[in-house]
Amino acid sequence: MKPVLEGRDVSRSFGGLMALHRVSFQLFEGEIVGLIGPNGSGKTTLFNAITGVFPPQEGEILLDGKPISRLKPFQICRMGIGRTFQIVRPFLKMTCLENVLVGIVGKDEKGTSREERVEQALLELEFVGLGGQSHRLAGSLTLLQKKMLELARALATRPRVLLLDEVLAGLNPSEILQALHMIEAIRVKRKVTIFWVEHVMGAIMTACQRIIVLDQGRKIAEGPPDEVRSNPRVIEAYLGGADA
Ligand SMILES: Nc1ncnc2c1ncn2[C@@H]1O[C@H](COP(=O)(O)OP(=O)(O)O)[C@@H](O)[C@H]1O
Ligand SMILES: [Mg+2]
Repeated sequence: MKPVLEGRDVSRSFGGLMALHRVSFQLFEGEIVGLIGPNGSGKTTLFNAITGVFPPQEGEILLDGKPISRLKPFQICRMGIGRTFQIVRPFLKMTCLENVLVGIVGKDEKGTSREERVEQALLELEFVGLGGQSHRLAGSLTLLQKKMLELARALATRPRVLLLDEVLAGLNPSEILQALHMIEAIRVKRKVTIFWVEHVMGAIMTACQRIIVLDQGRKIAEGPPDEVRSNPRVIEAYLGGADA
């Protein structure tokens, strides 16, 4: 089977700091893969490399076997890679509907009328449970709702692969459960392959089939959650790190 998304020896440095060192990974259609590692281990940098924000300086990233590392972020988004951000950042003074429309306009599908775009945006809001909230200002939403709005906005770009960066941060246990259900619905009902960075260990270990572990920019482990959890290198990375 061919991977949907693949990284081959991806490296990225900032000044003298090697944020990613020859990281390789593969995501297969319909999978949900976790990406973990101590603070500063390069998780967000890998997402920035995949989405073209900070392209890799060495190595290659491929979507459906096609190299994408030299494309601009908006082109990579159009090709089918969506993302959410570690810090939720909807446009707070815009309504929920307008926030999701931004995602669709960003995708820029020529020929779709405003009515069609609004209709699609409303469907995305409905999908994430914000159906009745389309005219509410994003700034008045709860944190969970803001995160759902981010998911709706990412879904509006019709991604095949979705990169989630710490969507559970700041949520309470019952909100975490709701978010987990939504992520599973996105994978199954929308047939989106998911690459997921998370600090909430229990949740990511339960939800993911496979986990990739970074430490200081290098991949140190990869495998099923149980295997990764008991891997001595992983335990050491976490115990030795700042956020043990
Ligand atoms: N734009 C940037 N400029 C300079 N250094 C950066 C930049 N982005 C990330 N880094 C550095 O790269 C390392 C990895 O960061 P990051 O990928 O954000 O870690 P993680 O998401 O795993 O916590 C850190 O040392 C961070 O300071
Ligand atoms: Mg990060």
